Amino acid sequence: MSRTAYRATLFHTLADPTGAPAAEAWVHHPDGLLVVEDGHVAAFGAYAELAPTLDADVAVEHLPGRLIAPGFVDAHTHYPQTDVVAAWGSQLLDWLNNHTFPAEQAFADRAHADAAAAFFLDELLRNGTTSALVFCTVHKASVDALFEAALARDMRLVGGKVLMDRNAPAALCDTVESGRADTEALIRAWRGRGRLGYAVTPRFAVTSTDAQLAMAGEVAAAHPDVLVHTHMSENLDEIARVRELFPDARDYLEVYARFGLAGPRSVFAHCVHADEGVLTRMRQAGSAAAFCPSSNLLLGSGLFRLKQACACGVTVALGADIGAGASFSLLHMMGEAYKVGQLSGEALDPIHAFYLATLAGAKALKIDDKVGNLQPGKEADFLVLDPSATPLLARRTAQAASIDEVLFALSILGDDRAVERTYLAGRLAHRRG
Ligand code: GUN
Ligand code: ZN
Repeated sequence: MSRTAYRATLFHTLADPTGAPAAEAWVHHPDGLLVVEDGHVAAFGAYAELAPTLDADVAVEHLPGRLIAPGFVDAHTHYPQTDVVAAWGSQLLDWLNNHTFPAEQAFADRAHADAAAAFFLDELLRNGTTSALVFCTVHKASVDALFEAALARDMRLVGGKVLMDRNAPAALCDTVESGRADTEALIRAWRGRGRLGYAVTPRFAVTSTDAQLAMAGEVAAAHPDVLVHTHMSENLDEIARVRELFPDARDYLEVYARFGLAGPRSVFAHCVHADEGVLTRMRQAGSAAAFCPSSNLLLGSGLFRLKQACACGVTVALGADIGAGASFSLLHMMGEAYKVGQLSGEALDPIHAFYLATLAGAKALKIDDKVGNLQPGKEADFLVLDPSATPLLARRTAQAASIDEVLFALSILGDDRAVERTYLAGRLAHRRG
């Protein structure tokens, strides 16, 4: 058995800090020790307590001034949209037609998909994201490309083939039957391999017929280990379109619910315009919301009311939503979430923001028994963060009086530059510089 130990400042969360006393919600060891054995966390605690328990042959790497934290979990993103990042000027429906759908058509070519998957996963790791819930394209092989690349890197990743059978270019449409056959084949082909998981992925209610949404619900019901991943209530024109397409549905959530797509394994990206009634029904169903602040700001979608969603008891996590979102960094998303909160008169606590980017993401993806924090027994997906990575960060964090201040400075001033190392299952997967 191979043991390795790292001495640094340690921080992780154990529970939602808005719903639990601080002592139960998070742990900070200013001088801590993380012990890793066979890809899992063996110990996480104060250096002074743990060091005497280590066998003499265990190497301890001392990382003064560094912060060890769990890897980030991105609850909503799109690997085929890396090339549409920073598209100027449009809101959701035009953006999809003018930028996103053309870019996704290139994924009919397997070599293009392989190259895009490799770039995307390396960019996740450079930014400290060790797990993600990922949209592929309508092409079945786009999932193979992503999963093969994730398997080679041993990442804990969840993804799925997009289902679309209307209101999209013909080259990006499948049918009820081909969508079912491809989804079933991918679940069978990839189940149990590495640390991968599948998500049934109808793009959104606008681009699937009733029959296709019903099929998606049937496939999800037949496979209790898969997630359901889609978009909901992001943009006002989109919501009006859904109302036209489903005139007898009470609201957007009800469209998904009537087809069996709103359950405890569902992750709904955005929910910007979801009201208290919808959020309450999401909590009752056990569905999660992915808050994607960079995307919501860039597409002008609106301001997600995090406090309201939390008050309704919904599991909320953070999504980078590449390529509507313009950064892979969940540190940056924590900062963007703070700014969205400020515009609604709600100041997001930095420890809550950190929870959203780690353990909450793992909860939304149903992998919190394996990752999301560094409790002993969990998979050792962790980061070495450098709070002095840039001159301004160094200057600001030198004056920080608490871990809250360090985390807040990292969220406002930090990004991939602050991620010095990323470890996957105890193995070094990225080292800066
Ligand atoms: N709604 C449907 N498809 C998409 C997408 O690709 N990105 C975003 N942000 N919203 C969507
Ligand atoms: Zn999206």
